[in-house]
Amino acid sequence: MTTNKKYGHFDDAAREYVITDPKTPWPWINYLGNEDFFSLISNTAGGYSFYKDAKFRRITRYRYNNVPMDNGGRYFYINDGGIMWNPGWKPCKTPLDFYECRHGMNYTRIIGRKNGIEASVLFFVPLKTWCEVQKLTLRNDSQEVRQLKLFSFEEWCLWNAATDMENFQRNFSTGEVEIEGSVIYHKTEYRERRNHYAYYSVNTPIDGFDTDRETFVGLYNGFDQPDAVLEGRPRNSHAHGWSPIASHYIEVELQPGESRDFIFLLGYVENEQDQKFIAPKVINKEKALATIARFDTTEKVDAAFDELKDYWDRLLDIYVVDTGNDKLDRMVNIWNQYQCMITFCMSRSASFFESGIGRGMGFRDSNQDLVGFVHQIPERARQRIIDIASTQFPDGGCYHQYQPLTKRGNNDIGGGFNDDPCWLIFGTVAYIKETGDFTILDEPVPFDNQPGSEVPLLEHLRVSFNHVINNLGPHQLPLIGRADWNDCLNLNCFSWDPNESFQTTENKSEGSKAESLMIAGLFVVTGNEYIDLCRRIGHHEEADRARQAVDAMSAAVMKDGWDGEWYLRAYDFFGRKIGSKECEEAKIFIESQGWCTMAGIGREQGMVNRSLDSVKKYLECEHGIVLNNPAFTKYIYEYGEISSYPEGYKENAGIFCHNNPWVIIGETLAGRGDDAWAHYAKILPSYVEEKYQTLHKVEPYVNCQMVAGKDAAKPGEGKNSWLTGTAAWMWLTVSQYILGIKPTYDGLLIDPCLPSTAQEYSVKRKFRDAEYRIRITNPKGVSKGILSMQVDGCSIDGNLIPYAPGSHEVTVVMG
Ligand code: BGC
Ligand code: NOJ
Repeated sequence: MTTNKKYGHFDDAAREYVITDPKTPWPWINYLGNEDFFSLISNTAGGYSFYKDAKFRRITRYRYNNVPMDNGGRYFYINDGGIMWNPGWKPCKTPLDFYECRHGMNYTRIIGRKNGIEASVLFFVPLKTWCEVQKLTLRNDSQEVRQLKLFSFEEWCLWNAATDMENFQRNFSTGEVEIEGSVIYHKTEYRERRNHYAYYSVNTPIDGFDTDRETFVGLYNGFDQPDAVLEGRPRNSHAHGWSPIASHYIEVELQPGESRDFIFLLGYVENEQDQKFIAPKVINKEKALATIARFDTTEKVDAAFDELKDYWDRLLDIYVVDTGNDKLDRMVNIWNQYQCMITFCMSRSASFFESGIGRGMGFRDSNQDLVGFVHQIPERARQRIIDIASTQFPDGGCYHQYQPLTKRGNNDIGGGFNDDPCWLIFGTVAYIKETGDFTILDEPVPFDNQPGSEVPLLEHLRVSFNHVINNLGPHQLPLIGRADWNDCLNLNCFSWDPNESFQTTENKSEGSKAESLMIAGLFVVTGNEYIDLCRRIGHHEEADRARQAVDAMSAAVMKDGWDGEWYLRAYDFFGRKIGSKECEEAKIFIESQGWCTMAGIGREQGMVNRSLDSVKKYLECEHGIVLNNPAFTKYIYEYGEISSYPEGYKENAGIFCHNNPWVIIGETLAGRGDDAWAHYAKILPSYVEEKYQTLHKVEPYVNCQMVAGKDAAKPGEGKNSWLTGTAAWMWLTVSQYILGIKPTYDGLLIDPCLPSTAQEYSVKRKFRDAEYRIRITNPKGVSKGILSMQVDGCSIDGNLIPYAPGSHEVTVVMG
């Protein structure tokens, strides 16, 4: 039996998760910054910062998969009469009298107390600013005057996070710093091609510093016992090559009851070519000093922090639900929406599982992420759509990823993932429905970023749609290409070489018959959206053409995509069934059940309900719905990476949370509210938090990508937290399909699908220039169906609230 020790709890009023034991089962992290400057911070202050791109502009160094784990971060060391400690417990691990870490909306506060001294650090990135603020408050709660020796610590990364960990013959000679006043500048490589440097400052005179790592730490010590701190004596070292760091040394005297603030800033600057130096080799510090001056007092920092809080108050005031169920409300009102912001910003690039090196912004990932974010800041979603579409090829194919810094398609991975184009329709339609802004369709957008190739965005949607119908296989189903949503179902890969990556292996699709039922369902859903959009803008011929193609696809699925009890998953290279009762292993997969039920293919013939029942029967388990069943027990070279994973992990029968909502939405569209809710609650972090903190391991306030499935050694263990399309899909599921408030071109459609026990709830929804207060009651305990609806006291027919600016009261009776 697993015990469920708790390491923390939600504080909903503060919108914080409060960690009360530093020894969490895995580092529990948070993200600072939401535009250009970002930091990852764990509950013991581990982590790192970067500007825009976690690979090319890594500011501080981090060693992944370290021993002990999560070693390295921004650390404050206090030497108090020979006792050395940190407010976040690590790295010294000196037992504290009190420890607390509060992860909030883009800020983290860590408090440690030891022998009558409290050290509290607030970490955040001010809005529109390229720096991380660290406000350290030291307070003397004892009766004596105390003399403390304070050391700050950051370790610089030499910008490119990949070469930083590889190219030591060069790296150990490049590091350069400047120290002026209380500011330490990291100007490595600045003289050559780089126009950027970083700095670490404090708003008080210092009594010493260090910039050379080995001198500060000592060659044979770890971060837990830096020589300088142990001895209580900085070395005033000046780094030349090796590993530059930044450490300030400050002697602090505190009277009984006295408290003092220190404002540290970790910042990044870019200078114009002709503004780089003020004297030979002396960098131009103007911009750094200007930023430092903006945050050099407690008042200024507190004001910036208030701005950040106001910003989140506004964002989280757009959709607010009150169901009376705290566990649901806190996810909908706080954490799910917050995670959507983070996935929008990061895609899959930088977390404690994603090293920030391997992957930029995914074409399909970003289109899905923006759907969870578009209600928050639609203008940013708009720009994202244009950036993504700009990496598309004229035939509708796409680069699978692009680098956030350059916004260029990533040649290392290339294209050929045949689901990718559909997602552009998915993202764009969501944006227009939220905003009513059809002008985005006229926006000139290039292909492959080539100037001169611009066409209206609508044309990109058309080529996206066409890409599917131009690439049909022998059953008139979509050819899968390199892979569909499941990056690991590599049906055209055929790799026998353990040294090649499944993701980058040449696509051997020549003569392939590999077709995807997942893309088929996705195409019907997004194709229907495309048709609807074309009709809206009066393109009826195009809509008619698209109608035929979509209907043909549905027919093809019913003819050759149905296995009797569920939808097939695919056909392989040779045209053999995948995800069929005829298969030896992996007889059923989740993706096609999700997409074909969402598409409603064969609803009248009973296919939808049978498919959903089969999911319950074969794929559902205690912790969620697994991806396939039975798991693969051996490598099948014509299937690729999926069969390389041990049973129950990742794409081989893990609970890949991202796709659970597809089934849940399928359930809601079938009107099966109890089933939908049961699936939803299993992967809802707040429910998991209550039941399985120890087992689950990863952060209990956000969804993770993968939870070990029923075939795994440890079912229920979570991995790959934070950066997952699950965030956006959980948001869509609960906000639009369970609670049922759905943006449409004309207004809000009210169409909840509830567990039959649900009695009433209310939602405040800001939508364009309107605000709706919607009260929904369910006197008869139905799952679906609206009996009556009133807007501002007037009954209306149907369940659409036509959009009108202003503030409105809506009452809805289900039945
Ligand atoms: C992972 C997938 C991921 C792919 C591309 C695979 O190893 O299992 O989840 O999409 O790599 O990075
Ligand atoms: C993670 C990738 O980011 C995503 O694009 C993919 O769909 C899933 N893994 C499933 O393979």
